Amino acid sequence: MEFTFSAEKAIKARHSTRTYEAKPLTSEDEEKLIAFSKTLTNPFDIPVSFRLLHSNEEWNAKALGTYGVIKGTKAFIGGTVPKGAFALEAFGYAFEKLILYAASLGIGTCWLGGTFRRSGFEKAMGVKEGELFPAISAIGYPAGKKSLTEALFQRAMKSKQRKPWKELFFQHDFETPLTEEAAGKYALPLEMLRLGPSAVNKQPWRVVYAGGAYHFYEEKTLQKKDALDIQSVDLGIAICHFHLTALENNLPGKFSVLPPKDIPLPANTQYSISWITS
Ligand SMILES: Cc1cc2nc3c(=O)[nH]c(=O)nc-3n(C[C@H](O)[C@H](O)[C@H](O)COP(=O)(O)O)c2cc1C
Repeated sequence: MEFTFSAEKAIKARHSTRTYEAKPLTSEDEEKLIAFSKTLTNPFDIPVSFRLLHSNEEWNAKALGTYGVIKGTKAFIGGTVPKGAFALEAFGYAFEKLILYAASLGIGTCWLGGTFRRSGFEKAMGVKEGELFPAISAIGYPAGKKSLTEALFQRAMKSKQRKPWKELFFQHDFETPLTEEAAGKYALPLEMLRLGPSAVNKQPWRVVYAGGAYHFYEEKTLQKKDALDIQSVDLGIAICHFHLTALENNLPGKFSVLPPKDIPLPANTQYSISWITS
């Protein structure tokens, strides 16, 4: 099976869908998603596994709940990744690529890192010792009309809004904004990164261009003690959008963990990885 889709089109088409048509996914679409999920790689070279789950069987209808956030669909995709450095970024990258593929097929999705019954899903996923189970996505065909819960969610999170360039992208240091003009050919990958989804729409990604490389950072604003850092998943998603757009536009480069010297770090900000342009 060939899996070609335009990253830019899929990124622009994707948004969180919380209200679905009652019609289940066709077996053809299910097969496409499963087959695509088996092809996924990521720049961190960490394997991420996916599983399609259905809550339409009586035994798990309650166990696989979303506290009323998701309406209409009974299908979900869950992912697991072995614990270790960059596990969450790898998970975010691979899962988002699957979500973009779904968007290219007209299939709706919604990342869920918080509002799902974790213990029930964990059991259904068969999560093993040494594995992380950071998030799931609802999956199905978007309904024409949104539920009231969905409308409230979107309003509360200002889901359609994104931070302006000057708060996200910099050059040399975290003080000097990188303009679209100065970014040149990289204006598009950065803009596609900016459209990415993130937990509670916090947009924790920051990028500094210095020495011919784009350095990616995470501004940690959602830290809970002992919980996994969901914002590292956000970073993986952002890196996915940036990378797929760069590849689509034949912009050569490679990822490398440096970390860059001479860039003073703002508070609560952590370096992740760099894209070295060539
Ligand atoms: C890692 C992650 C976790 C999320 N967790 C939830 C969640 O638990 N419940 C929910 O309704 N939305 C969740 N979202 C969706 C975000 O709220 C949404 O992406 C953001 O508001 C931007 O809106 P958009 O996806 O429509 O562009 C999550 C998104 C990400 C990336």
